Amino acid sequence: MSFRIFTKVWQRRTRNNSTVLASFSRTFSQLSSRPSFGVAFDIDGVILLGNAPVGGSLRALRRLYDDAGRLKIPYIFLTNGGGFPEYKRAFELSQLLGVDVLPSQVVQGHSPFKQLVNRFENELIVAVGKGEPAAVLTEYGFKNVLSIDEYASCFENIDPLAPYKKWTTKLVADQNTKFKDGDSRNDVCSQRVHAAFIVSDPVDWSRDIQVLCDILRTGGLPGRNIGPQPHLYFANDDLEYQTAFPSERLGMGAFRIALESIFNRIHSSTLEYTSFGKPHPSVFKNAEIVLQQLILPPCHDLRDVNDMNTRCFKTLYMIGDNPSVDIRGARQAGHPWFSILTRTGVFKGKENDNNFSADLVVDTVEEAVDYILRKECTS
Ligand code: G3P
Ligand code: MG
Repeated sequence: MSFRIFTKVWQRRTRNNSTVLASFSRTFSQLSSRPSFGVAFDIDGVILLGNAPVGGSLRALRRLYDDAGRLKIPYIFLTNGGGFPEYKRAFELSQLLGVDVLPSQVVQGHSPFKQLVNRFENELIVAVGKGEPAAVLTEYGFKNVLSIDEYASCFENIDPLAPYKKWTTKLVADQNTKFKDGDSRNDVCSQRVHAAFIVSDPVDWSRDIQVLCDILRTGGLPGRNIGPQPHLYFANDDLEYQTAFPSERLGMGAFRIALESIFNRIHSSTLEYTSFGKPHPSVFKNAEIVLQQLILPPCHDLRDVNDMNTRCFKTLYMIGDNPSVDIRGARQAGHPWFSILTRTGVFKGKENDNNFSADLVVDTVEEAVDYILRKECTS
């Protein structure tokens, strides 16, 4: 499907987002029909391995919709992954999983970056990672964003290894309308970078570590004098995660360790940064609000999930594959979270995890959904 048609389809879909959301909440408008439980699905290692559905995830998700395709059980995808705007990821998941996923049902590692827009709205910031990291931040409202590919392409010789890489960033610069001429590139070089955002798993570690050190050591002006460190944000701190390869792959947390140990060796002060994503309790607090928004009429006051009166879920199920991330997070968040650990991802043990034991361990997500629907006695 060409991007233009895709965009059209998508604009129609996202436009419908609010109407579909309204129909959701209409479905649950009668208190009696409002389910007292909701589900948060991790993606890598639970629903997908790479882009391949795993553990009967297609059948499992279909049981959350009625025969007319209307959502019966409120659920979200709660992933530390990312790299594309939520509306694009929702479309991709709908294609892969054969169900209608709304943008509001997709919560990614970088989703909380939205809270930082007021702070850096017009400041030059650099977005790092696979996919479309700059488009993600622009979608949130940041107005002066460059991907690290674009940013690095403005500095001759900043990556001494570029000549040895089949892919080069030079291409980006030549093709990029943002840099119509040398002046606009020079303009970038003289602008101070106020923050760097690691949106998704970095692709070119050597170049990214080099350029980030250049930015972070010089107050945001690579090649210039040492200066105060600009802000640095990571969407998650996962050391490893499960994808299509039999054993775990290095995650964003591994990149953070590499960057931090190198930076601390070549710089007088240690690296300062903020990590988001599971297992932070704020992710689960926000997830509860997002699930409520799925079932409560838009006018309903959602602000205080701590206020038992407004809290409408008795149980929220977190289905994850990584004990130190998904299960630890749900346990730390406490009531109403119930943690379910699958064996299709990082965890492959017979019993439970020794460090972060889950409330329930199952082989697959299909088994997890079956358990939830039987326990909540919903067919
Ligand atoms: O890069 C994503 C990975 O670290 C974990 O993703 O879906 O298992 O939270 P997920
Ligand atoms: Mg996972």
